[in-house]
Amino acid sequence: MTDLAIAANGLRKSYGDKTVLDGIDLAVPEGTIFSLLGPNGAGKTTAVKILSTLVSPDPGTGGIHIGGHDLASAPQAVRASIGVTGQFSAVDGLITGEENMLLMADLHHLSKGEGRRVAAELLERFDLVEAAKKPASTYSGGMKRRLDIAMTLVGAPRIIFLDEPTTGLDPRSRHTMWQIIRELVSDGVTVFLTTQYLEEADQLADRIAVLNDGRIAAEGTAEELKRLIPGGHVRLRFTDPAAYRGAALALGEVTRDDEALALQLPSDGSQRELRAVLDRLDAAGVEADELTVHTPDLDDVFFALTDTAARPGRTDQPKETAR
Ligand SMILES: Nc1ncnc2c1ncn2[C@@H]1O[C@H](COP(=O)(O)OP(=O)(O)OP(=O)(O)O)[C@@H](O)[C@H]1O
Ligand SMILES: [Mg+2]
Repeated sequence: MTDLAIAANGLRKSYGDKTVLDGIDLAVPEGTIFSLLGPNGAGKTTAVKILSTLVSPDPGTGGIHIGGHDLASAPQAVRASIGVTGQFSAVDGLITGEENMLLMADLHHLSKGEGRRVAAELLERFDLVEAAKKPASTYSGGMKRRLDIAMTLVGAPRIIFLDEPTTGLDPRSRHTMWQIIRELVSDGVTVFLTTQYLEEADQLADRIAVLNDGRIAAEGTAEELKRLIPGGHVRLRFTDPAAYRGAALALGEVTRDDEALALQLPSDGSQRELRAVLDRLDAAGVEADELTVHTPDLDDVFFALTDTAARPGRTDQPKETAR
């Protein structure tokens, strides 16, 4: 257990007769990024709140250990070793960014001098020096989010929970946030991250768990999850109907789209498989006008594992939050 920053066995939580978490197991090694993915209402925030002592798990939950401390018997020790950036901002808009930071320093019982030093250092690191003396209500979403995380870091926690840290941020701010998260982990911090953005989990996480219907539907590295589902294929498009028919004959088992003059065949996208396809086309003396290789991405995994009835366009759109 010593090298696990977060360990939970059979985590359960119901609200009324609604089971939100139906006995989930989590094991996050120190110094790694773990990402919990799931559709709206899957229970991500509930999991973060339980692991960070803000909400109690249901009886019947097995042991939960955070930073080696037993959550049930030593919640204070757990609190001392973690930082939490909630889904909704903890920033007080009426006071300045700097004052928000100093308030956090007070909460962590830092001395006046030490508080000032830590606040200045973090404001610098998060590129908020210029804005530090302005009321936080005037900050953009990205600045507020950076301030939020800077506030979380005041107590120098070794384990950090980030609940959708980049929801609603533009691509540049999102990349800045990713860089910040990577730097934290290179300093040995453990990050437990929830996200709606599959690309984010793909980019950052050492391990990913997909939460659905109260259970972990799948867990592994991004590559392992992608391998779970089929869907890799090669698509060939033609402009000449005769070439299209010739190729269909030469390739045998293909899915035909007569209208688009396109053929699709399953493929793992490997050089060997692609070469075999091209060799057969060459032998038949036909040439495709366009060849595209589709390898499954986390989006495919997500839709295969979570029972969203229809794929409603892409999910990586910012959802509305009351921030
Ligand atoms: N205090 C509460 N009382 C009653 N039901 C709750 C409470 N908190 C959460 N729930 C319910 O638990 C379920 C999971 O909510 P949770 O906020 O954990 O989901 P989430 O995965 O974080 O969703 P989102 O992606 O929208 O943030 C939802 O159905 C929610 O309505
Ligand atoms: Mg949530």
